[in-house]
Amino acid sequence: MIKLSCRNTDAMIIGENDGLNLDEEFNNYRERIAEIIVDLNKRKDKPGQWLQWMNLGYNEETVWYVKEFASMVADRFENVLVLGIGGSALGGLALSHALLKPYWNILTPEQRNNFPRLFFMDNIDPDYMNGLLDTLDLKKTLVNVITKSGSTAETMSQYMIIKDRLERELGDDYRKNIVATTDKKLGVLRQLADQEGYKTFVIPDDVGGRFSVFSAVGLLPLALVGVDIEEIMNGIKDMDLALKNTDIHQNIAAQAALVQYLLDTKKGKNISVMMPYSSRLKYISDWYVQLWAESLGKEVNNNNETVYNGQTPVKALGATDQHSQIQLYNEGPNNKVITFIRVENFDTTLEIPKILEYTGIGYLGGKTINDLINAEADSTRVALADYRRPTMTITLPQINGYHLGQLLYMLEVQTAIAGELYNINAFDQPGVEQAKNYTYALMGRAGFEDSARTLQEKLVTV
Ligand code: PA5
Repeated sequence: MIKLSCRNTDAMIIGENDGLNLDEEFNNYRERIAEIIVDLNKRKDKPGQWLQWMNLGYNEETVWYVKEFASMVADRFENVLVLGIGGSALGGLALSHALLKPYWNILTPEQRNNFPRLFFMDNIDPDYMNGLLDTLDLKKTLVNVITKSGSTAETMSQYMIIKDRLERELGDDYRKNIVATTDKKLGVLRQLADQEGYKTFVIPDDVGGRFSVFSAVGLLPLALVGVDIEEIMNGIKDMDLALKNTDIHQNIAAQAALVQYLLDTKKGKNISVMMPYSSRLKYISDWYVQLWAESLGKEVNNNNETVYNGQTPVKALGATDQHSQIQLYNEGPNNKVITFIRVENFDTTLEIPKILEYTGIGYLGGKTINDLINAEADSTRVALADYRRPTMTITLPQINGYHLGQLLYMLEVQTAIAGELYNINAFDQPGVEQAKNYTYALMGRAGFEDSARTLQEKLVTV
């Protein structure tokens, strides 16, 4: 199992001003945490609670259909292209980057065991999109368009461009190159998919975008490139079992949620930094940033009081960002809690040759890069503690589907528990809607004419 250490958030290590009395706080919150865990598990099957993501690890039917489809199309395509944004892209991106061999898309087909290359078009930059479209042979590309609402402007404009090109290149056969992942009934994409007869996968009801990674949203792209998705599911299930434990001393998601909540509300640590020491885990931080920001950043709480809630999440990468952000983290405002992710055993070892022995860098010879990156993680953690900065460390025994299933599920539960502690709704995103509506208005969508007029006035002044 993955492990969590909150030790370096304790006042004994970093002082009373900035640290927590963990024993005392765990005791104070023992009952509240138990209540929250019981309540989340009780509510998870009720419609409208947006907690269906807690059941995704057990969805064997989806795994079966995803695997069956992946094996059917396995040797027909050279590329998989995912169209999606936010929660419809970040989970698949994070997991594929972590689980596929590094530099996957430039490996030879043999090195990829003949699985396709994988691309995510998760933005709408015209230069970048044209760049990718100039490179990809669309005839040999399976396009997985993913959108829960079925109407997101970014994703659907990408879809329109690609559908048009595919149809021109392949005629009626173009349909075989598209697979849609969307709501079972609602949205434009669902309508189109039914009309056109695309293969579809369903994003279950009551699963929000940022909590959808373990539905077909994340699983399908992974299975298409040969990732063992059952291993991921096993990780989720084992973690889910562990996180049903109502004793805070045994529940790492509850510990992490409580520690971040208390550091924010009592000690002014309103920035949450996620810093894995592994390039393969780089996009886990992007996924976490969305999860923490959209879930906890809320204007009003459940009692309708104005609270302007939420820690600001920041992504960092060890060891790279030691040479960019750590100066600030050590000596700047003491307003952050940093979560390190440390990997115990990397898949490979890289030795530093014993050369240049009589120079200032001779001490590195004979060591491994593995030793170096973990020594840097340890030294940074200790240095931050010397500066009285709180840090937590999540340790992954190894980077594989099993442990990543555990990690992402644990972070989802941590977010849900934090939402309860803050007394806000962690599962809506009203703050995203305003700009979305303005975009619809600017682009001339029917029904948004009033917004368009207001917007034109504001665009002059703002
Ligand atoms: O977490 C969320 O709800 C959002 O980030 C959505 O995933 C994002 O806006 C994309 O929405 P959709 O899947 O409807 O295209």
